[in-house]
Amino acid sequence: MATMTTDAKTVEQIEAFFQMKDMGKDAAAEALVLVEKIMDGLDAGTVQVVEPCAQNRWQVNSWVKKAILLYFRLRPIEKMPEGNFVDKIPLKDVTATMNRVVPYSSIRRGSYLAPKVVVMAPSFINIGAYVDEGSMVDSLVLVGSCARIGKNVHLGAGTMIGGVLEPPNANPVIVEDGAFVGGSCGLYEGIIVEKNAVIAAGTIITGGTPILDLETGKEIFGRVPENAVVVPGGRTKEVNGRQIVLQTPVIVKRRDPKVDAKLVLEDSLRVFS
Ligand SMILES: CC(C)(COP(=O)(O)OP(=O)(O)OC[C@H]1O[C@@H](n2cnc3c(N)ncnc32)[C@H](O)[C@@H]1OP(=O)(O)O)[C@@H](O)C(=O)NCCC(=O)NCCS
Repeated sequence: MATMTTDAKTVEQIEAFFQMKDMGKDAAAEALVLVEKIMDGLDAGTVQVVEPCAQNRWQVNSWVKKAILLYFRLRPIEKMPEGNFVDKIPLKDVTATMNRVVPYSSIRRGSYLAPKVVVMAPSFINIGAYVDEGSMVDSLVLVGSCARIGKNVHLGAGTMIGGVLEPPNANPVIVEDGAFVGGSCGLYEGIIVEKNAVIAAGTIITGGTPILDLETGKEIFGRVPENAVVVPGGRTKEVNGRQIVLQTPVIVKRRDPKVDAKLVLEDSLRVFS
């Protein structure tokens, strides 16, 4: 998919507007026109905060995040057409998309839903988030700003995918194709869940959380490897003569037929005609 990342002039303009402390009226109007264009691109999926690049890696377009922050700065607070709400960011129009969006979820403008995504209510998909084809966002899920959710991902009920608008240096969370994130999980601070990994219910991982891989005996940070099955766990530590337990998710195994059998998804929930 074509993105705007190669449009050097746009990037330059956003960086310049972002640096301006006191934007005059004319500059603010000009900036808003540009930023609205970028929001249109995010809405359509042609602009992406996180995009795939060579060798299965990800590129983070920090200028897009700056455009989003500018959008907050430049937009007026308005009464929302949906009723008794006031905000700066309108909701995305999902009515013409090939998705199922159950009332009452909030999907903000500047987020992208590929076709065949199901969003159960009440869920919140924030600006800059990208949810790829065939994914399920179950009830009470947060897909935080700028998070990237791959194809055919399952985000279990009550799961929180952290966003990156604050603090400004945070990296987006990425959940790659085919991953299964169980209920009541929390993924924060730029953690990358690689393809087909399984995060068992109740697992919380931040960028600084050690993940113990039982197969290798090593602790890893910042990513869950492809096909890994991670469950909540702990490690003991002595503090002032007392043994305490610090949370340490554990990779108990790689995905196998037993896990797959437990995670079979119901096709009839994924019919879009
Ligand atoms: C991961 C999961 C699929 C289990 O797969 P499995 O192949 O049956 O795994 P096992 O039961 O063999 O578990 C392997 C080990 O991890 C442990 N484990 C599994 N799930 C665990 C969890 N959620 N918390 C802590 N430990 C867990 C097991 O006790 C076992 O340890 P042991 O070998 O010492 O007994 C299942 O636990 C799970 O999380 N399912 C997702 C449910 C869910 O959230 N659905 C979405 C609802 S919206």
